[in-house]
Amino acid sequence: MSKLDTNFGFNTLAVHSGTAPDPTTGSRSFPIYQTTSFVFDDADHAASLFNLQAPGFIYSRLTNPTVAALEEKLATLEGGRGATATSSGHSADTLALFPLMTPGKELIVSDKLYGGTINLMAKSFKKFGWEAIFVDPDNPDYFRKALTKNTRAIFIESIANPGGIITDIEGISKVANEGGIPLIVDNTMATPFLCQAIDWGADIVVHSTTKFLSGQGNALGGIVIDSGKFPWRENSKYPSLSEPSSEYNGLIFAETFGDLAYTMYSHAISLRDLGCSQSPMNAWITLNGIETLPLRMERHCSNAIDVANFLEKHSSVEWVSYAGLNSSPYYELGKKFLKNGAGSVFTIGVKGGYESGIKMLEYVNLFSHVANLGDSHSLILHPASTTHRQLSEEQQISAGAGPEVIRLSIGIENVEDIISDLDQALSRL
Ligand SMILES: Cc1ncc(COP(=O)(O)O)c(C=O)c1O
Repeated sequence: MSKLDTNFGFNTLAVHSGTAPDPTTGSRSFPIYQTTSFVFDDADHAASLFNLQAPGFIYSRLTNPTVAALEEKLATLEGGRGATATSSGHSADTLALFPLMTPGKELIVSDKLYGGTINLMAKSFKKFGWEAIFVDPDNPDYFRKALTKNTRAIFIESIANPGGIITDIEGISKVANEGGIPLIVDNTMATPFLCQAIDWGADIVVHSTTKFLSGQGNALGGIVIDSGKFPWRENSKYPSLSEPSSEYNGLIFAETFGDLAYTMYSHAISLRDLGCSQSPMNAWITLNGIETLPLRMERHCSNAIDVANFLEKHSSVEWVSYAGLNSSPYYELGKKFLKNGAGSVFTIGVKGGYESGIKMLEYVNLFSHVANLGDSHSLILHPASTTHRQLSEEQQISAGAGPEVIRLSIGIENVEDIISDLDQALSRL
């Protein structure tokens, strides 16, 4: 653990937290511990590590020093108590729910999410016997109405992927409190630089670190951050955390580890058994990416608002859905929850519908047509034929990914070059 003063500002913490100079070599860049395993001092030391009685490293599927540095950095930036890094954003979703769910239990999920997450929750989770109930996130009452005695969590995105939708984290967190269940917020599109969801009532925050956090489209990863605030011990709904564990000699996670119970369980059982650990190399790339997160996010957001303003006035554009625009129904929510800008991913509807949308992908030059977002490069995508393809048309429309929708992820290039590329493509339609 570093000895950093957590009263430092966000930019300082983004650079320093979790990554003190290496005590052995003095290396200023945090080392990549590219190893599977760690040598035990003796048999007693090994036994105490395996019994969770001593802190330390055993095997990189459970914990690794480079990955632990990333966990510490992101827990600090989100204001959380502990974190568990995973191999991808999707595995973070599964890992976040693993301590909470058993067959027959339900989670209430916003229907405005990244399409892959809707698929994961609507289809694959069914195979575990986990039932996802989808509701419109625009009104916290819809979550309240969906609560049952089997509900074990609520899952939302702070800024919904694909476009410009801001979720009322505070309002929905009140519903979660009433139901005695945790609120999980996917904060990928906002990052902690724009939104600290724990301050608004989130109990658990998840990220695809693949996006803005690593920042350059070169490392898959995910993370689950625990606020440490949910009272697992006083709640009979979560026996994995509040009842004796048969695997660790009757140890009760909530009793032994207190506000670190959820994070300890996530390493000692979820990562151990599901095996979706983040590689040290990807953790290192992401650690470096986060050092420049505030600078990049400032540029992403200022470019995005300029581009959105330009597009809103363009004769070939039907509509622009970006919470940074006064015209957006989410403008006020954006001002409340997003302190440094409305992000850089948003959607537009091009006149001429589906056909024009497809042509637009072909006509742009600076933009890359890829299934990613949050890269320093500007990216373009047609969600209905790609990321949201597996959804029904009804699900696509309710997720903001109808047939005419184009998603833009505005990069950090010169804004006049981004605008000029879009302008030439639109004028050819
Ligand atoms: C908001 C959001 N959450 C989760 C994911 C899944 O992340 P990954 O691709 O790292 O598995 C994505 C991917 O696009 C996303 O946009």
